[in-house]
Amino acid sequence: MTTLAHWALDYPSTTLGRALLVHADCIAWLGRIEHESIHAIVTDPPYGVKEYNPDQIEKRTHGKGGIWRIPPAFDGSIRAPLPRFTALNSKERELMRCFFTEWGELALKALVPGGHLFIATNAFLSQLVFSALVASGWEFRGELIRLVRTFRGGDRPKNAEEEFSEVCSLPRSAYEPWGIFRKPLPKGMKLSDCLRVYGTGGLRRISPDQPFTDVILSERTSRTERQIADHPSLKPQSFLRRVVHAALPLGTGVLLDPFMGSGSTIAAAESLGYSSIGVERIGTYYDLSIQAIPKLVHVAEDHWSEQLSLDTMLS
Ligand SMILES: C[S@@+](CC[C@H](N)C(=O)[O-])C[C@H]1O[C@@H](n2cnc3c(N)ncnc32)[C@H](O)[C@@H]1O
Repeated sequence: MTTLAHWALDYPSTTLGRALLVHADCIAWLGRIEHESIHAIVTDPPYGVKEYNPDQIEKRTHGKGGIWRIPPAFDGSIRAPLPRFTALNSKERELMRCFFTEWGELALKALVPGGHLFIATNAFLSQLVFSALVASGWEFRGELIRLVRTFRGGDRPKNAEEEFSEVCSLPRSAYEPWGIFRKPLPKGMKLSDCLRVYGTGGLRRISPDQPFTDVILSERTSRTERQIADHPSLKPQSFLRRVVHAALPLGTGVLLDPFMGSGSTIAAAESLGYSSIGVERIGTYYDLSIQAIPKLVHVAEDHWSEQLSLDTMLS
């Protein structure tokens, strides 16, 4: 097993199995690591850029103001706050475009040629993020659709709900789009050569008979997982294991999540025996990941059989 400890540079870090967790700002960290040393990125970044700023996290904790909207109770269940992305003004959108362009350039330098990036977005902001990544040099390879029912969108016009009872301002979202990008292959290099030289360029099949599919039937993150890792944007292991599995075509190399949160991507990598690095800026979430990853690795998957039937239907 290769040791990843040197990737911590001089930041606080922890090693867990094959994973290295680094407490750092990923922009600073990416700017310092060796070029062409990471083989894939699977990540779920902050979308309004500012929703994970300390002042916004403080407002979320106290349940008022800021970008986090507290949704009304539904069918008697209390729902978790959601970031209010539609509230972003044009200046904030421009900030977002600049952020993802800068981040895209740094991430591109860190990846070996042919390395893939899977990046979570939402239906409302994906076009902005995707165009910034293309501008920073990434090759757009398509979209992965996580079919999941959320409570986002579908609302009637604010303060005129009764007057326009048959109108919704945005569709109720039933999917989460993930961008699939690749660092361009060196000029003239064939995919088979890229796989031989760098171990990258393609996606790992589910099995020799079954290719990776770009629609994944998913679920809201289970209560068991939310109890293990109390993070506002926790993604389910059942979904992440499939994405992480696909991201390293030969199952070798180093996978990075630069916006690690509570470590769900890293836990998925661990469960597959992949080497991985997670980077998180907020100390509370970095500490949480150290506790949560060993437990998330052992979470059982509920919906595997439904996904298999979707794959059969599509094949
Ligand atoms: C959307 S959440 C990811 C949550 C993750 N999917 C999980 O399941 O826990 C984004 C995370 O990125 C972190 N973050 C934001 N900006 C960062 C930066 N510049 N460097 C490192 N981490 C950052 C936030 O603190 C937050 O925990």
